[in-house]
Amino acid sequence: MGQTLAVTSGKGGVGKSCIAVNLAVAMARMGRPTLLVDADFGLGNSALLLGCGVENSIEHVLRGECRAEEVAVEGPEGLVLLPASASGQHAGWELGPGVGDIRADLSSFEAQFDYVIVDTGAGLVPKTIEAAVAVQRMVLVATPEPTAIADSYATMKALLVERSDMAVHLVINMAESQSEAEELQDKFAELTVRFLGAQIDNRGYIPFDRFVREAAKRQVPFAQIDPPSPAAEAIEKLALWFDNNKLESRSAGFFDSVLGWEDADWKTQVKVSS
Ligand SMILES: Nc1ncnc2c1ncn2[C@@H]1O[C@H](COP(=O)(O)OP(=O)(O)OP(=O)(O)O)[C@@H](O)[C@H]1O
Ligand SMILES: [Mg+2]
Repeated sequence: MGQTLAVTSGKGGVGKSCIAVNLAVAMARMGRPTLLVDADFGLGNSALLLGCGVENSIEHVLRGECRAEEVAVEGPEGLVLLPASASGQHAGWELGPGVGDIRADLSSFEAQFDYVIVDTGAGLVPKTIEAAVAVQRMVLVATPEPTAIADSYATMKALLVERSDMAVHLVINMAESQSEAEELQDKFAELTVRFLGAQIDNRGYIPFDRFVREAAKRQVPFAQIDPPSPAAEAIEKLALWFDNNKLESRSAGFFDSVLGWEDADWKTQVKVSS
C-alpha cells in the first residue's frame, strides 16, 4: 500500500483543507499517483478548492450505492479525489449492506496510489479520530492563536491514547513570521514531551498568504500556479520532505484500517464518552 497521511486539527478553520488539497496537488506535480480523500462528511469542500465538478460522494460508496471508481474524479495534475458531500448531513464510517464488498472495493481502489492524503473535519469527534489514527502520518495544523494551540494539544493527547506510535507532524499555518512559528512549535514540543511523554515533529510553517484566499475564490489550487506564492513554496517543501522520508509500506491501507477497526477498544470508549 502507498504512504498514508491525514491532515487534522483541534480547532476548525485553521487551513486543513487548503493544506490537504495543495499537498495532494504538489505530490501529483512530482509525478506521484495521489489520492485525496475528503473525510469531512457533509461539509466536504475539497472538490470546490480543486475546481472539480462532482455528482456523487464517498458517502455513496460507504452506503454501498456506488463503487469508488464511479465517485472518484480527476483533479489538477492527474490527482484523484474521492469527494465528500456538502449536504450538511454528518455521516460516520459505518457501512451499508454488503460490508465486505464495500471494504474490498475501497481497498483495491486505494492500492493504485503511491500517496493517500486524507482531509478530516475539525475536532475530537469519532469520525475524525478514526480517520486520523488509520494513517501512518498525521499532520496536525494549528494557527498562532492560543485557542488553536490548546485544541491541538487536546487532539494530540486523545490520538496518542489510541496510537502511541503515531508520527505526528506539527505545521503552523497562517504564521506572520518564521520566528512566530518557531516559538510556538518549541512551546508545543516542550508541552508534549513534558505532559504526554511524546515527541512531535516540527514540520515548519506556512505563511499567511493572501493568495491562498484568492486561489480558493478562483477554485484553483495555489500549489498549481507558477511562480509559486510563499504558501505554495512551503507546501512544496512539505511534499518533498514526505517524499524523501517515506515510511515502511504497510500491508493495510487507509480504508482497511478505518473500516476494519470495529473491534478496537478505543472505539467503544469514544462512543461511550460522546
Ligand atoms: N496560509 C494561509 N494564508 C491565508 N489564508 C489562509 C491560509 N490557509 C488557509 N487560509 C484561509 O483560511 C480559511 C480556512 O481554510 P480551510 O477551509 O482550509 O480550513 P479548515 O481547517 O479546512 O476548516 P474546517 O475546519 O471548516 O474544515 C480559508 O478562507 C482559507 O482560504
Ligand atoms: Mg476543511
